[in-house]
Amino acid sequence: MLRLTFFVLLVYIIVPGLAVTHEDFKTCTQSGFCKRNRDLADKAFATGKSWTSPYTLTPDALKFDSGVLTGVVRKDVVSGEDVELPIVMSFYESGAARVVIDEEKRMAGLIELRHDSKANKKRYDEAWKWATDGELELSESAIFRQDHPGPGYSLMNYGPNDRFSAILHHSPFEVEFQIDGKTHIHLNSRGLLNLEHWRPKGSGEALGEDESTWWEETFAKFTDSKPRGPESVAVDVEFPGYNHVFGIPEHADQISLRETRGGPGNHEEPYRLYNSDVFEYELNSPMSLYGAIPYMQAHRFGSTVGVFWLNAAETWIDIVKEHDSNDKQTSTHWISESGRIDLFIFLGDTPKDIGQAYGKVTGYPQLPPQFAIGYHQCRWNYMSDEDVKTVDATFDKYQIPYDAIWLDIEYTDERKYFTWHPLRFPSPKDMQEQLMESERKLVVLIDPHIKKESGYFVSDELRSKGLAVLNKDNEIYDGSCWPGLSNWIDAFNPATAAWWNTLHKYDRYKGSLSNLFIENDMGEPSVFHGPELTMPRDNIHHGNWEHRDVHNLNGLTIINATFQALLDREANTRPFLLTRSFYSGSQRMTAMWTGDNQAKWEHLAISLPMILTNGIAGFPFAGADVGGFFDDPDVHLLTRWYQAGIWYPFFRAHSHLDTKRREPYLIQEPYRTYIIRALRLRYQLLPAWYTAFHEASINGMPIVRPQYYIFPKDEEGFAIDDQLWLGGTGILAKPVVEDTDSTEVYLAGEEKYYDYFDFTIYSPGKTHSIEAPMEKIPMFIKGGHIIPRRDRPRRSSALMRSDPFTLIVTLTKDGTAEGSLYFDDGESYDYEEGAYIHRQLLFHDRVLSSVDIGARGRQTDKFLKKIENITVERIVLIDPPPELKNTQTVKILEEGSGSEYDAPLAYYEVDEGKADYVVVKKPNMRIGSTWQIKF
Ligand code: GLC
Repeated sequence: MLRLTFFVLLVYIIVPGLAVTHEDFKTCTQSGFCKRNRDLADKAFATGKSWTSPYTLTPDALKFDSGVLTGVVRKDVVSGEDVELPIVMSFYESGAARVVIDEEKRMAGLIELRHDSKANKKRYDEAWKWATDGELELSESAIFRQDHPGPGYSLMNYGPNDRFSAILHHSPFEVEFQIDGKTHIHLNSRGLLNLEHWRPKGSGEALGEDESTWWEETFAKFTDSKPRGPESVAVDVEFPGYNHVFGIPEHADQISLRETRGGPGNHEEPYRLYNSDVFEYELNSPMSLYGAIPYMQAHRFGSTVGVFWLNAAETWIDIVKEHDSNDKQTSTHWISESGRIDLFIFLGDTPKDIGQAYGKVTGYPQLPPQFAIGYHQCRWNYMSDEDVKTVDATFDKYQIPYDAIWLDIEYTDERKYFTWHPLRFPSPKDMQEQLMESERKLVVLIDPHIKKESGYFVSDELRSKGLAVLNKDNEIYDGSCWPGLSNWIDAFNPATAAWWNTLHKYDRYKGSLSNLFIENDMGEPSVFHGPELTMPRDNIHHGNWEHRDVHNLNGLTIINATFQALLDREANTRPFLLTRSFYSGSQRMTAMWTGDNQAKWEHLAISLPMILTNGIAGFPFAGADVGGFFDDPDVHLLTRWYQAGIWYPFFRAHSHLDTKRREPYLIQEPYRTYIIRALRLRYQLLPAWYTAFHEASINGMPIVRPQYYIFPKDEEGFAIDDQLWLGGTGILAKPVVEDTDSTEVYLAGEEKYYDYFDFTIYSPGKTHSIEAPMEKIPMFIKGGHIIPRRDRPRRSSALMRSDPFTLIVTLTKDGTAEGSLYFDDGESYDYEEGAYIHRQLLFHDRVLSSVDIGARGRQTDKFLKKIENITVERIVLIDPPPELKNTQTVKILEEGSGSEYDAPLAYYEVDEGKADYVVVKKPNMRIGSTWQIKF
């Protein structure tokens, strides 16, 4: 009976996922190449120790020059044919290594295409052009030793202080990547390396192989012509000693990735990366969503390592773990439909090291304009320019801050982008001008599908200039999307990007002003009625590459073109873009969100791990639709969603056309007040957020961080993904994601924690149950931090420009604290010429000080002059040394002025259980100068 109840309960827990149309999307078994590679893994497993990988490295062909090792891997095939696979291993100054394996025959174009296809014969070798941020510097110091440590092996020594090595096994071919002589990553240890070499049709069958999915493949009613036959690539990557792996977004799942070969709590299917518009997506699932970042981090006590599988085709990743606690390890199996094996290896000590190394390859996130990190008010749709103006005015009436209002596709004339609906949006400029009065922005949707209609200038130009994606017969591909019959821009083509650029110019995009920014949606690409709701894989892009080769990059190329268009429109204004579809590298240009979620508690809950995972994967400017896209949330859910949404780096409320209006001012009291408080809290902490965004832009650190980033040695916290840290501020948030009024929070480490609002003291090292009635946002400050805030509520972030700062200080056991503040004009690129301040804030020996950690540039003095009247108006020191009870003033020494002056200090004694605090009122140091305060 108990078991039955448990089963019934389980079914109910899983119910929210039942809405997804599974039959629209392939399982691994329905995907020929995935099944073939999984079968190979099964065979290897069943064969056991006597399984031998048929790949060998020819030692005599190895050549090493300036950090690059080249050679040939040979595949032993039954036909006896000589299958040569050129290998290039590069070792970089940054400590990263890269392994590229291609296929000689396809490189030389010596294969036959079927069906008169014009597709490129090569394996796709251009993913790096889009995903990476330019060339990496090759290592000068890497040393190669053939036949070392003994016959049958070769050794590469590289990395910082020569701590890293790569041991190449010649036969079978394997590579062990080591740190200080210990293996952390092992390629092909299970012998699953597989590169499906080119063969003529029938040659497999002659040898008894099943060719049924080699030459054509049918799914649902669609047949893929596969003109190049089977061409998948796969390899196993083992992480010895690691029990947790993270990353590979986008999936609606927990951060610590599950095993994928079945068993309790595990998935049955591999994690899939094939950008897809999945309607009513299911939770706790390895199914593909809109974006793909094939980058995985493995973390354990004392070290973190990572791999980046640079392949833009459909990819599946199986994960299995060894459960014997003496022999922890995670083994992964990466499988892609086409392209090359192109794998980056990152070794290091901490998650930060690995994130930084990955960022050196794919680029760090853009430092966005400041408005982009304020609150965004969106819905599908604000129906007229008057509607927008009214919403804008009503926010002001209720004194609710927001920075951008959004127009979904209905602002256009019949969903023709770059036009305005003539009746509903007759005066777009007036609308944007009203927004400008409070320095707010307008964001509009412009999608990459172009309504096919002669007389619509965008359609005419797209078609006549030959810039659209083609079908397999080399004709313009027709499909359907929001506007009905449409064509798709091929943004892989530089000529398309150049043309797209012109469309954004003010004289062509009539009615647009400089405060208009853009969301590019549906870039997966989403094609209604297409195979798996996207384009056929045999469609053709620029360079004659098949869509199958580049699918996961498609959305990135659109963002790339739009980013450049906005830059060219206003050279010294940082663009803001939002995308749903993404790949590694998209972080350089855009924010992302998790697509069409639902107004359900489970969707609120999953948003936290999804956003954390994106941060781990180098793309931290992430958010989820606040309130849920489909359906109407009740007031509890909506309130809790705002209280959680303020922790999303990208913070936008959005909802479906069929939902009821839910702008915060429409919500009944007391919930309206709770929501407004949450919004103001976001704005109060904008200086801390902006500083975290800045840090992400220079070293790739997530903006909101999971527990294991802050406590990389505390195994209990490795899998925690329902509480998050705001940058390096020491602020820990534990959003309530269930309809309850209490929650639990794990407070790790050895420093005390303080409730953010009333300074209740929490002892470290355990899980606390805390009261969390609806009005409460559970958040804590760990001892030892200095947090910059701005406490005056304004209508938009730009209007806070000249406001003074407040500093909140908590101390470690040793009486010290640290923090930082990055601050610039929030919109231009002048910071590149020194127009910013970057201050380190320190508390030591009862002295609070601000130290300059920026670099000077041509515009530094001008910027400092501009901000000279911006001061610190208050300092709050929580849990101060008791001696301060007898102090009435603090001494301030500000550099420049040279003189010392006093400011009043008030000591507040409070009830037991809460921390006393002191407040220094109007100390008035300039935020941009160097100063010291003696307490
Ligand atoms: C997609 C987007 C959603 C948008 C809708 C209409 O479903 O994910 O945000 O509102 O298209 O443009």
